[in-house]
Amino acid sequence: MKSEFHAKLLSTMVDVGEPRFNLAHEKLFNIVVDADEILGGAVTGERSLTPQEWESLSTVCDELIIYAKAHFADEEETLVSRNYPNAPQHRIIHNQLIEQLNEFQKKVSEGSDKNLKELRRWMLEWLLNHVNREDFAFAQYFSTAE
Ligand SMILES: [Fe+2]
Ligand SMILES: [Fe+2]
Repeated sequence: MKSEFHAKLLSTMVDVGEPRFNLAHEKLFNIVVDADEILGGAVTGERSLTPQEWESLSTVCDELIIYAKAHFADEEETLVSRNYPNAPQHRIIHNQLIEQLNEFQKKVSEGSDKNLKELRRWMLEWLLNHVNREDFAFAQYFSTAE
């Protein structure tokens, strides 16, 4: 069950005009929420994560990376096949996001809690920012070009 805060955030995520992608974005968002709930408990309680919480967060991150890679590959293939002019740049951005997710995962596996607040903020923002900026850009391109 998503909190009101998470439901509100999800409502700001744009429709990218492709139902399969919208579903994938929502699924990714739900995994982000799982991570946020683990981090949020510690941040609001002004405490570190327990060993079990680090472990759960690590499992959530694994799932997130696997799912993000699958969605990104699907999206990139579609953008290329539909001759989207910014497909190469879009792929680069996806690769950077995967790198950042891997870095996040590394911090989690080290149980590093120096910047829990920052980790939490980044986790909450990366997906929405990407969908609402770069994915929305292809949505707008296809809605006018086709
Ligand atoms: Fe994308
Ligand atoms: Fe996407």
